Amino acid sequence: MNKCWYDNKTVILTGASSGIGKDIAERLIKDHGCKVIGIARNEERLLALKNSFGNKSDCFTYYIFDVSVKENWENFAETVKEENLKPDILINNAGILPKFDRFLNYTVDELDKAMHINFYSCLYSMNALMPVILQSDSAAVINIASSAALCSLAGTSVYSASKAALKSLTDAVREEYRKECYIGLVCPGFTKTNIFRNQGTPVGNKAQKAMDFISTDCDRMCNLILKGMKNKRADMVFGADAHLMSVGNKLFGTVCSHASSAVMKASGLDLFAKVFK
Ligand SMILES: NC(=O)c1ccc[n+]([C@@H]2O[C@H](COP(=O)([O-])OP(=O)(O)OC[C@H]3O[C@@H](n4cnc5c(N)ncnc54)[C@H](OP(=O)(O)O)[C@@H]3O)[C@@H](O)[C@H]2O)c1
Repeated sequence: MNKCWYDNKTVILTGASSGIGKDIAERLIKDHGCKVIGIARNEERLLALKNSFGNKSDCFTYYIFDVSVKENWENFAETVKEENLKPDILINNAGILPKFDRFLNYTVDELDKAMHINFYSCLYSMNALMPVILQSDSAAVINIASSAALCSLAGTSVYSASKAALKSLTDAVREEYRKECYIGLVCPGFTKTNIFRNQGTPVGNKAQKAMDFISTDCDRMCNLILKGMKNKRADMVFGADAHLMSVGNKLFGTVCSHASSAVMKASGLDLFAKVFK
């Protein structure tokens, strides 16, 4: 593996127990000699991940808390100081995809929950941890948003809003700290992970095949993310669907959202059934 600025760094990574986060933790430890401090709620999965590192298991430590709660970040920031953890990099990756539905079918609690997990968690973590991250010579914050931040899809109102908010926050903070910190924004398209487990209805064979067709392998997505980070790219749009949404939205604005809705509706997939009732 070629030398890279984040080799041997200490990385705080949210959502390390599954999907993209788990894969990134594995690569940072195995290929880059990093120390990873993972955060998530499922201890069983975090412990299994730690054990999977064998003689490198000391490189992975974990903290179990809900990232959507402000006090948890305040307490964690205290722990970081007390234990002299000296993180260089913060990767905000934890997130949920609420079930595809129309806006009025969500309860306010469901809308709040998605905003808190996908957006406020990043705002809290950046606020709590950037003072200590900025002390590093290799200070970096990477926020994992989504292609939904670039073009809103029907059925994803609060998800799109939470990720667009994260994009705006990231863009502004990047300008403010440009000289002190590399701040990257990742907008992945559909990626093969378990993020669809929260859908109200089972995804189903037909939907699964369609999703697999447009989705990028998790492995490949993580390669692209780490390569983008290596080159300190500010904006990282990855996946053919994400590029389509990005370019489509720039060229055609709301027509791009409308065309995407038409495709989702025409697909006849159960996954989107409630959206177009
Ligand atoms: N997969 C895609 O198609 C796709 C596309 C675009 C963007 N993304 C974004 O990529 C990121 C990773 O998603 P993924 O696909 O890897 O999903 P995933 O496999 O479901 O992983 C989500 C991770 O977030 C953690 N998490 C969720 N809520 C949390 C909370 N309240 N507190 C602490 N940790 C929490 C989960 O851990 P616990 O359950 O253990 O807490 C898990 O480790 C998300 O931000 C997602 O929006 C994914």
